[in-house]
Amino acid sequence: MITCKSISKSYTKGTNIVTPLENLDLEVGRGEFLALMGPSGSGKTTLLNLISGIDSPSSGSLIIDGENIASFSRKQLTAWRARKVGYIFQLYHLIPVLTAFENVELPLLITSMSKAERRQKAEEALEIVGLQDRSHHTPSELSGGQEQRVAIARALVADPALLVADEPTGDLDRESATMILELLQKLSRERGKTIVMVTHDARAAAAADRTLHLEKGKLLENEPHL
Ligand SMILES: Nc1ncnc2c1ncn2[C@@H]1O[C@H](COP(=O)(O)OP(=O)(O)OP(=O)(O)O)[C@@H](O)[C@H]1O
Ligand SMILES: [Mg+2]
Repeated sequence: MITCKSISKSYTKGTNIVTPLENLDLEVGRGEFLALMGPSGSGKTTLLNLISGIDSPSSGSLIIDGENIASFSRKQLTAWRARKVGYIFQLYHLIPVLTAFENVELPLLITSMSKAERRQKAEEALEIVGLQDRSHHTPSELSGGQEQRVAIARALVADPALLVADEPTGDLDRESATMILELLQKLSRERGKTIVMVTHDARAAAAADRTLHLEKGKLLENEPHL
């Protein structure tokens, strides 16, 4: 599903050049759930942003589902992202004045879908995360774990093949974190979603099929999880 070949990413900070990723190779299979660990500043978010088309590599090729997105223009990337990728954040990033249902429906407003279709898709996504009964509540009326489930429903609503998550359990208690991890496992096993999850928590990483460690711009592999 994902093949990164010799990708590098540099940023210019004033007169300094920072290169968090240098000649990095990565393969992720379709339907695989991959955990990505590594110290702060090692480039984990940078890598997620490249894989999800939020940012472009300075060099190298990035083939996702058969398309080399490294060669895409900004405009092509935006359209590609809306079809292919769901992004899940540590702090959910829900819109506080919208209900759970409206937050989930939001990514569909830029598509040509009818109102009835949007309603059906949003309801389905809320059902997958087990929150149909909370659809008319606003984020402030939900627990952190429920907010993250709404955010996952929003990431899922356009049925993307790829989900990327940046510390999705970083702000949750143990019980809510477990629920989110089980949900991500279910999405990869039962719905064939390819998932790349950044985490600092070894217990969260153990929920994935495989863990990679990013250190000094290089990826080191663990034994696959049993
Ligand atoms: N837009 C940017 N402009 C300049 N430098 C950046 C930018 N984004 C990231 N960096 C730098 O790239 C390096 C990697 O950052 P990144 O956010 O990918 O790390 P991370 O592994 O996600 O860290 P954390 O665990 O703290 O979230 C850091 O040195 C950071 O300062
Ligand atoms: Mg980060």
